[in-house]
Amino acid sequence: MKFFLDTANISEIEEGVSWGCVDGVTTNPTLISKELVGKGDFKTLVRKILDVVDGPVSLEVTSTKADDMVREGKKLRTLGDNVVVKIPTTVEGLKALKILKSQKIKTNATLVFSVNQALMVAKAGASYASPFVGRLDDISEDGMSLIEDIREVYDNYDFETEILVASVRHPIHVKEAALIGADVATMPFEVFKKLISHPKTDEGIKRFMDDWGKIDKKKLMF
Ligand code: G3P
Repeated sequence: MKFFLDTANISEIEEGVSWGCVDGVTTNPTLISKELVGKGDFKTLVRKILDVVDGPVSLEVTSTKADDMVREGKKLRTLGDNVVVKIPTTVEGLKALKILKSQKIKTNATLVFSVNQALMVAKAGASYASPFVGRLDDISEDGMSLIEDIREVYDNYDFETEILVASVRHPIHVKEAALIGADVATMPFEVFKKLISHPKTDEGIKRFMDDWGKIDKKKLMF
């Protein structure tokens, strides 16, 4: 299973990459805007991200018409070979996915909330489909059961589109996505950090160190 960081913050990306388990990054207009308001420009930020990440980096188009999405997507793609163009799941988005696929540009269909949307974007040639589990949970729908259903449908027909679980809010989302067999989970750095910590690990380290401290160090071989 691949882990992507869902952030445009360079320090978070650098730190995550140094842990050896970040396979890529996803951004969206909200995340980019958080980093840019009053401090910097888009290209510089994206170039920094692309420098740090050795894997797919999703950058979202902000156009709504297919031709404009394609134009914007092609421009984004010139920033790096690992750029994946994020396209909203709409009729215009489907048209853009099809064109970008024919031009061998990787795409990520975003804002997927149903199995049928996931089917449509896969048929249109999306490289990734991003179902938003947290936002479904927010409205009392079960985000993870959507992932189960999409997994089953994609496997039924051998679709190559990867399931990229998005809007991940806590470690249980990540564990469940892994159990279901989702291809990727993208998560905020705050969630990523929580995946490695366990109070019993901390307690165990403390006990080992305390006991080690009781030994007369001069009697050690090294
Ligand atoms: O990048 C899309 C998605 O992960 C956003 O998550 O928490 O804003 O619903 P959230």
